[in-house]
Amino acid sequence: MPKKAYFDEKAAKWDTLIKDEVIIRLQNMVSELGLSQGSKVLDLGTGTGVLIPMLMDAVGSSGAVVAIDFAPQMLAEARKKYQWTNLEFLEGAAEAIPLADQVVDEVVCNSAFPHFDDLRRAAQEMARVLRRGGRVTVMHPHSREYINELHASLGGAVENCLLPEEEVMQTIFTEAGFESITLEDVPQRYCLSGRKR
Ligand SMILES: C[S@@+](CC[C@H](N)C(=O)[O-])C[C@H]1O[C@@H](n2cnc3c(N)ncnc32)[C@H](O)[C@@H]1O
Repeated sequence: MPKKAYFDEKAAKWDTLIKDEVIIRLQNMVSELGLSQGSKVLDLGTGTGVLIPMLMDAVGSSGAVVAIDFAPQMLAEARKKYQWTNLEFLEGAAEAIPLADQVVDEVVCNSAFPHFDDLRRAAQEMARVLRRGGRVTVMHPHSREYINELHASLGGAVENCLLPEEEVMQTIFTEAGFESITLEDVPQRYCLSGRKR
């Protein structure tokens, strides 16, 4: 089954699969990002919008969130739950983000990066839409080892959706135009962050 169809098929039940402790971990991770009130954030691979209320709260009414996903059913679930005037949903691929150049302050990509078909292209697109000095955050509420074992065990469309090792991630993001790249990979979180040069 193609990946888009795989996620569309999972959309209606997606939220029931996410445990409360994982939501708490994500809330802590978003809070530690220290997003500025008034900033514009791209939630790339938003899915059913698990991160949306956390991001909206962080940026406040003077900020904005753009939530992008390539799976229409995932987006439909997110749209049902969240409507704010400063929240925009767009259907599109990470490898061809449907935004102009340098229009966001932050790109946050939770539990989605390893699913992108072309990781280098996706990182380049994140750099393109970010303003200079803007930040990319690729995060998971689990370690790289956990994520890669999970995807391999699920098989099918996500079997080969693996987070590359640290050196490769550093190269991908440096070559895409990021600097000051840091990576934390511990049992309950994975977080890569970098600034657009
Ligand atoms: C594991 S889900 C995570 C969703 C959400 N960020 C969360 O934290 O629950 C991965 C999401 O990435 C989306 N996705 C996968 N490949 C994509 C691509 N190439 N472009 C845009 N979205 C993609 C899927 O449709 C799915 O909604």
